[in-house]
Amino acid sequence: MGEQGTFQATGRFPEGRLAFPHRDLTGIGQLARHEILYLLAEAEQWVELNRQRSKHSDLLAGLTIINAFFENSTRTLLSFEIAGKRLGADVVNMHAATSSVKKGETLIDTAITLNAMRADAIVIRHGSSGATRLIADKVDCPVLNAGDGSHEHPTQALLDALALRRKLAELGQASEDFTGLKVVICGDILHSRVARSNILSLTALGACVRVCAPPALMPAGIAAMGVAVFHDFDAALEGVDVVMMLRLQQERMAGQFIPSAREYHHLYGLTRQRLARAASHALVMHPGPMNRGVEIDSEVADMLDRAIITQQVEMGVAIRMACLDILTRAARGVEGWTA
Ligand code: CP
Repeated sequence: MGEQGTFQATGRFPEGRLAFPHRDLTGIGQLARHEILYLLAEAEQWVELNRQRSKHSDLLAGLTIINAFFENSTRTLLSFEIAGKRLGADVVNMHAATSSVKKGETLIDTAITLNAMRADAIVIRHGSSGATRLIADKVDCPVLNAGDGSHEHPTQALLDALALRRKLAELGQASEDFTGLKVVICGDILHSRVARSNILSLTALGACVRVCAPPALMPAGIAAMGVAVFHDFDAALEGVDVVMMLRLQQERMAGQFIPSAREYHHLYGLTRQRLARAASHALVMHPGPMNRGVEIDSEVADMLDRAIITQQVEMGVAIRMACLDILTRAARGVEGWTA
């Protein structure tokens, strides 16, 4: 019986590094269901710490974490920085816009340079799909994907799962996974690494996932990921428990994919009236940054009882603390985690 089978039979996570036998976190696609659940379970302790007045742990004291961001970010960069600092690590941020990347240095030479500085973990955001894997193959420390092109944004999917699971528990629908939950993801599915990571995570955890976008913003063959494909948002919303909205990723669009923002909002914007098609208890999610009045109306985004967008941000710090802790256990010599 493999680790997944043991987990299913006993409900207990495998011991030591068998619980998470990966050096890097490059995508949800590399993870088994029990490994996703392990990361969520480990994050719970950090949610509690983050709600205390004093939010400090010395777990990663003496370690150096480099956040190398080749694309803009508010939530991911800050939460990785806060996560590392709350765990006691030395955290350094490298912004590509002010680095030697601007002088023509390649991604691989940048990776070799960071490696020579003996980082204990490197967090990468890059505009090219697969950039994180490329760097992971060149360095000696764990690499965490903070978003690579339109490929994956694994910590976003993990924080989304944690925020959703905690909200469902608060509503009395406590469950370890999302079996039977109906989720619609609507927006620029074609360019969205968030959509891809969430499809992988939500389906692994048992949810029924629908994706909705104009035909030009829907990737060919996406049904093979186990999702139902919609182009009519009103139909896609019927009876769902969760509505996850995504922004239009203009920075990845070469050419015109939609006639206008106004027309897009008319067909695909989440309004209060449209939300009424979903289940009466349906929750609203958005990874941010939001474009209010385009993919989501303010009166929906700010619904205190239905929108869990700020909870998603809060869970981002806890998830990133869990990832940094778990991926540095081997280097820290934690019993049961060394190779
Ligand atoms: N959700 C997300 O990745 O946001 P940032 O681009 O602000 O990091």
